Amino acid sequence: MEAVRSADEIRDVNTRYHDVAASTYDSKWGIDFGEVGQAQVLGKLRKVLGSELDPGFQRSLEIGAGTGYFSLNLLQSGVVKRATCTDISPGMVRTLAVNAERLGLEVRAARADAEALPFADESFDLVLGHAVLHHLPDLERAFEEFARVLRPGGRIIFAGEPSRTGDRLAWLPKRGASALAPLWRAALRAREAPPDRPGPAGEAAEDHGLERLVDIHAFTPGELAGFAKRAGFTDVKVRGEELVANWFGWFNRALEASADPDQVPMLWRQYAFHGYLVLQRVDEQVLEPLLPPALFYNLLLAARRA
Ligand SMILES: C[S@@+](CC[C@H](N)C(=O)[O-])C[C@H]1O[C@@H](n2cnc3c(N)ncnc32)[C@H](O)[C@@H]1O
Repeated sequence: MEAVRSADEIRDVNTRYHDVAASTYDSKWGIDFGEVGQAQVLGKLRKVLGSELDPGFQRSLEIGAGTGYFSLNLLQSGVVKRATCTDISPGMVRTLAVNAERLGLEVRAARADAEALPFADESFDLVLGHAVLHHLPDLERAFEEFARVLRPGGRIIFAGEPSRTGDRLAWLPKRGASALAPLWRAALRAREAPPDRPGPAGEAAEDHGLERLVDIHAFTPGELAGFAKRAGFTDVKVRGEELVANWFGWFNRALEASADPDQVPMLWRQYAFHGYLVLQRVDEQVLEPLLPPALFYNLLLAARRA
């Protein structure tokens, strides 16, 4: 496939890819709206805000909200009182609305491009996002928009952004899993996935091919901080998270993707899920305080509008 060049093409490919992914997104990524999901989301915010999280936020705006992982969990835990959720993909916005209704939550959901937000100046106390900045073609403009819609003193928090070094290091478990996949399938007596099978999210092969075109950035901690500083934000903080948990996750996901999904035993899936949670605690309590942010797979950014 040809390389994507213009900003419009990047937005278009993001819309198409995420529209197709929307209906199976939660099961693919194990997104949870119960106690586990709430603890995960709150844990990430607490890493950069500490006790400042406790009074909560009145009006939040989520960018690239997807199916609602962050906002719906924050509403349920009471950290956010009124949530507005936006995404460039109409399919994601529809799935988010269905999730909110199922959970009995009221949200304002709208289709919007991060770089042209359809909201008045200073209308939110918190602008947040998870795994979205690396899809945006014009980050300078997006950060200007975040600053415009935030009240003075309001907060931005972005989590789950790929770190450049962390991304390179994740190549190791992916390659290791590819090499071990035949042995693993033999041990589990699982058939190999057919070559023309749908992608891991059940999407058609053509749209699965779009996946590599939607991830357009990986950041160093300094680059991520730079976008916030140039848009006039203060108290800029960048943290790294997830190292061994991520290696474990990629290793298992690469093994699973090599097999017919119906033949991956539930016991294996449980092991992969619970193992990931245990290793997340190892990262958080042992490695994150010790190692530089650049080594981790994900970066978290927090800042304040002056
Ligand atoms: C990796 S998904 C993350 C979804 C959700 N935040 C989560 O953590 O589950 C990235 C989301 O960003 C959205 N997105 C991509 N480009 C965007 C843009 N220019 N403006 C707004 N949203 C965008 C996608 O449609 C997708 O829903």
